[in-house]
Amino acid sequence: MAEKVLVFADIGVDDITALLYGYINDDIEIVGIVTDYGNIPRENALRTVQYLKSIVVTEEAQDTPIIAGAENPMTAELPDFVPEIHGEYGLGPITPPTTEDPLPELENFYEIIGIIDQYEGELNIVNIGRLTSLATLYLLYPLTMEKVKAIYIMGGAFWVPGNVTAVSEANFHGDPVAAQIVLTYADNVTIIPLNVTERAIATQQMVDYIDQVGPIDIVKPMIDYYYEYYRERNPNVQGAPLHDVLTLMAVNRGDMFTFQELPVHIVQATQGTERGQSIADIRPFGSLEEEAGKEIKRHRIAVDFDYKRFFIDFMTTMSGQQF
Ligand code: BDR
Ligand code: CA
Repeated sequence: MAEKVLVFADIGVDDITALLYGYINDDIEIVGIVTDYGNIPRENALRTVQYLKSIVVTEEAQDTPIIAGAENPMTAELPDFVPEIHGEYGLGPITPPTTEDPLPELENFYEIIGIIDQYEGELNIVNIGRLTSLATLYLLYPLTMEKVKAIYIMGGAFWVPGNVTAVSEANFHGDPVAAQIVLTYADNVTIIPLNVTERAIATQQMVDYIDQVGPIDIVKPMIDYYYEYYRERNPNVQGAPLHDVLTLMAVNRGDMFTFQELPVHIVQATQGTERGQSIADIRPFGSLEEEAGKEIKRHRIAVDFDYKRFFIDFMTTMSGQQF
């Protein structure tokens, strides 16, 4: 039986690759896409998710509700977009062709409640962007959110370098207020941080093979563009990190990971290196709670994973060939 997944995405190359993976993989049924600002503006993200329906012609993709999420963070700032990493539309060099299809209605956030009610007790929420929309749900609909089976979050960097500052990861850095709200109120949370996602690498050889035998043509131009950014920054990098794909995989492949259950605190600075830093307490003594002067929930954090399992699952799904 496929796992039902409501995706909260900020639409970058790895978000789109994760959505393609989810649509192709029979173990996952995407039942909705909440589209937020993040890597690119919400408007562009909505256009890209709409365009995806012309790329993936399965019934599941055609019937997937597209929901407009947050346009800006809870910090009341204008977000910094990163077209140099993901492209203007989160598709690398690709611009979705203009079509007569109307953009999804921009004020349909309430539709999420119907989806959660429809799949009560069996819905997984996978948040692969900033956490603004998910935090809003916890503030406005705490009782409804108790109907969600599990929450998977791509975010954070624990005892490893960040990718926006020396210590902060992009999704938590983009809206540290929202990240703290979700980690304060949500239960059954699994955090998939840079500790593992930086190593979920798609090499050029992998992408070229998918391009040769796989069903989706946009994968190669998209990931090549994304990889170029990482290669310019570090010529030794072996390929492009598919942060969001690994996070979506965690819904069905939990046994591929090593987890630790730890209290997590997000630094609420408005600027500077420590903004959005994710801190987990691994000391056998003392406690983050005492220092923070409040109870801090423990969450499951992925600290390692089996790359071979990731490789086999990703390549089998995206190429259609058994690895
Ligand atoms: C996260 O930030 C975004 O740029 C990616 O899509 C991913 O979700 C990685 O830090
Ligand atoms: Ca993302």
